[in-house]
Amino acid sequence: MNDFESKSIYQDWSENSLDRDDRIFEKRRISVGEKPSYKVGVVGLGYVGLPLLLLFAEKGLSVCGIDIDINKIEQLENGVSYISYIPDSRIKKVQNKLFFSKDATNLRSCDYIVLCVPTPLKDGNSHTPDISLLKNAIDQVCDVAQKGQTIIIECTTYPGTTRELLVEEINRKGFKIGEDIFICYSPEREDPGNPLYSTENIPKLVAGATNECLKKGVELYRNAVERVVTVNSLETAEFTKLVENTQRYINIALINELKIAAEIFDVDIFESVYAAATKPFGFTAYYPGPGVGGHCIPIDPHYLNWACKRKGVDLSMINLASDINESMSKRVVNTVGKALQSIGKPIKNSKVLILGLSYKKNIDDIRESPSLTIAEQLSSMGADITAIEPYIRENQTIDFIKIKDIESINFKEFDCCLIATDHDCFDYQMIANSCKLLIDTRGRYNKDNYEFIWRA
Ligand SMILES: NC(=O)c1ccc[n+]([C@@H]2O[C@H](COP(=O)([O-])OP(=O)(O)OC[C@H]3O[C@@H](n4cnc5c(N)ncnc54)[C@H](O)[C@@H]3O)[C@@H](O)[C@H]2O)c1
Repeated sequence: MNDFESKSIYQDWSENSLDRDDRIFEKRRISVGEKPSYKVGVVGLGYVGLPLLLLFAEKGLSVCGIDIDINKIEQLENGVSYISYIPDSRIKKVQNKLFFSKDATNLRSCDYIVLCVPTPLKDGNSHTPDISLLKNAIDQVCDVAQKGQTIIIECTTYPGTTRELLVEEINRKGFKIGEDIFICYSPEREDPGNPLYSTENIPKLVAGATNECLKKGVELYRNAVERVVTVNSLETAEFTKLVENTQRYINIALINELKIAAEIFDVDIFESVYAAATKPFGFTAYYPGPGVGGHCIPIDPHYLNWACKRKGVDLSMINLASDINESMSKRVVNTVGKALQSIGKPIKNSKVLILGLSYKKNIDDIRESPSLTIAEQLSSMGADITAIEPYIRENQTIDFIKIKDIESINFKEFDCCLIATDHDCFDYQMIANSCKLLIDTRGRYNKDNYEFIWRA
């Protein structure tokens, strides 16, 4: 019996007799000789699935990684990472614990199956969830599901998804949930590129379709992460993830709007936020920027609102935040236009250099990136766009953008240079010294020291 079981917290908790604070399971390392022998299948090996798979393997579990992208499978089989902040060495170190395939039938032999596939919005500006990829993955998993398996969804999605799609499908297959098959929802809280927080030390929320399901979920994660926090229902776990990201979305919108207010008073919004953040209570720093990007923050609040609209409620704060955040790229384009006008140039036929294409600094993820929206808008107005993105994968190409290495760039050849993503690896002094016209969307330069730099 290990430390965890001997404390009998488990029984107390499963009888629902503990209060909220007791539902937090602190780190309990498996001591030598007690290594778990579970086999875990991870479906979807992207920004969420790959680090999770590696963590399970590093904790001694056998892992089967499934992805429909054969290029990813081949790279992983060769010990090559396609995520900039995951070194190849991490994969090579645990290669003997890993098996990769495109074929979902390999999941039959797994004790746990964890789904990490994308949950985007539908194309166009409808703000409607596209759960087709998750639905496909669920269908694949349900087709191979075996008695005794635990299936966990980690994708961000609207409250009710796990029950509507997975629980119902498993029931349809004739399995009894909580006896034959166990179902959990555990939202991922990855912060890509953050050196302080990794999958291991970010507390893991878990909910089960039944108490028996929850026990299975806790059992898996307590072997891998430092802290497991349980919540009462699948819907609570799904909703909690959306609370986290909606709060962020709305606060970013607020600070983006306050940036507009600061301009009226010729105040540097960044200086103001740094100053406000010295208040030791009641203020959390959010920073303005050219818009909101990534696969989470600009998407997840719309999953929540869509689900509420199905029940007849439209969340006005999300709509307003969306309008503000999505208008920021247009403001940047307007500022580029004004800056170029100040040197007598129209946007049409101007040579614009964009620094940073990823949606935030020090990572390679360009999904929903405001840099791309800005580049597209400028390009449609006739500007010639070149970009420097040190984190981008070599073979990636984007139609209307020429991507170049910083070493090959002569800054003086460009009419204007736009800092869209403030990667730490850029030499900002050199950039300021080299550009004819510089526009800063990230507050990288102190306004007083660089009066010639435009803020956007
Ligand atoms: N990226 C983040 O920072 C982050 C953070 C928290 C939560 N999430 C959530 O995690 C989920 C995954 O996001 P991501 O960023 O890892 O996506 P991703 O696009 O980086 O990776 C998803 C992977 O799933 C694969 N895939 C799609 N359908 C599949 C199928 N049927 N079978 C096997 N593989 C399949 C894709 O080929 C891709 O490699 C989403 O719901 C997202 O909202 C993401």
